[in-house]
Amino acid sequence: MLDKYSRQIEKHFLNPRNQGIIKNSDGEALINESQCGDVMKVYIKIGKRPISENSKSEKYIKNIKVENLSGCFAIVAAASVMTEIVKGKSLKEVLKLIDKNIIDELGGLPLSKMHCASMVVKGIEMAINNYREK
Ligand code: FES
Repeated sequence: MLDKYSRQIEKHFLNPRNQGIIKNSDGEALINESQCGDVMKVYIKIGKRPISENSKSEKYIKNIKVENLSGCFAIVAAASVMTEIVKGKSLKEVLKLIDKNIIDELGGLPLSKMHCASMVVKGIEMAINNYREK
């Protein structure tokens, strides 16, 4: 099945990073793709760190976990890559993430799986929005 996909996809599908739940997360999102029925949850923990000596600080993704409740191999791999990209990044940087970043990191995706990348980008955006609404 994986013959026609990149090594990166295979690597992340067979050994997905940051899978699981964060109890007492700061933000959560449930993403439900009606087209194909894939469902995933994203949990984030937010940290705060100084960015300059004059007491300015920024918020960043201290921890992230993803639960792939049902889904194809591409979304499992895309979610894994997304967690690696965003961990440790400021919220400002994370909100600049676009589908192409995920697709490039995976070494490409077939046309029929492009929405898997959109879904994980939407997932992290929704989790950050959920945190900001609290
Ligand atoms: Fe729909 Fe992967 S998220 S096929």
